[in-house]
Amino acid sequence: MPEELIRRNREWAGKVHDDAPEYFEELSKLQQPDYFWIGCADARVPANVITGLQPGEVFVHRNVANVVHSSDLNLLSALDFAINGLGIRKVIVCGHYGCGGVNAACEHGHGHGLVEHWIEPIRALARAHQKDLGDLSSEAARDKLVELNVRASVNRIADTPIVQEAWENGESVAVHGMVYSLREGYLYLLENSSRTA
Ligand code: CO
Repeated sequence: MPEELIRRNREWAGKVHDDAPEYFEELSKLQQPDYFWIGCADARVPANVITGLQPGEVFVHRNVANVVHSSDLNLLSALDFAINGLGIRKVIVCGHYGCGGVNAACEHGHGHGLVEHWIEPIRALARAHQKDLGDLSSEAARDKLVELNVRASVNRIADTPIVQEAWENGESVAVHGMVYSLREGYLYLLENSSRTA
C-alpha cells in the first residue's frame, strides 16, 4: 500500500532530522553531485545504495539493461544536464551480472514484446561476438555479454556530440564502465573500458 511508503518516509526523515537538523535545509539549496550514473532499472541495483552514496551525491539515469541508444532524448537530456548544467566530470555506466534484459537478448525468438526493440543492440552485440561468446545459454557467455554491453554503452556515451564537445572545450570528462555482482554485492571497474579526452 502507498501508505506504507509514507510511513517509512516519515521514519527515515525523522531519523535524519534527529541526527542532522540542518541536513534537508542544506541539501535543498544545492545539487552538486560528482557522478552521473547510467545503470539498469533492475530493483536490485539502486545506485545510491550499492555505492554507499548519500542523496545529492549521484545524478541517476536508469533503463532496462543500461542500454545507450544514440537518439534517446531522455538519456541525452540527462547527460547534457549532468555535464553542462551540473558540471559533472565522472560518468559511470554500470551493468550487472544476471541482467534480465541481457538474458532476454540471449533467448531464441523475440517473445518479450516491446522491450525487444529496446534490447536490439544487445542482440546485435551477441551476433557480432558469436565466436567469442559461444553457447549463449551458459552463464559465462551471458556474463561476458553483460560486460560487452557496458563497453558498448560507454563508447556510445563517449561518442555523443555532448561528450565530444566537452572534450573539444578541454573539459576533463571521463566515462567509466562498471559491473555489479548481484551475488556478491560488489562493484567492479571494467578493465580498459574508460574513455577520456
Ligand atoms: Co538488468
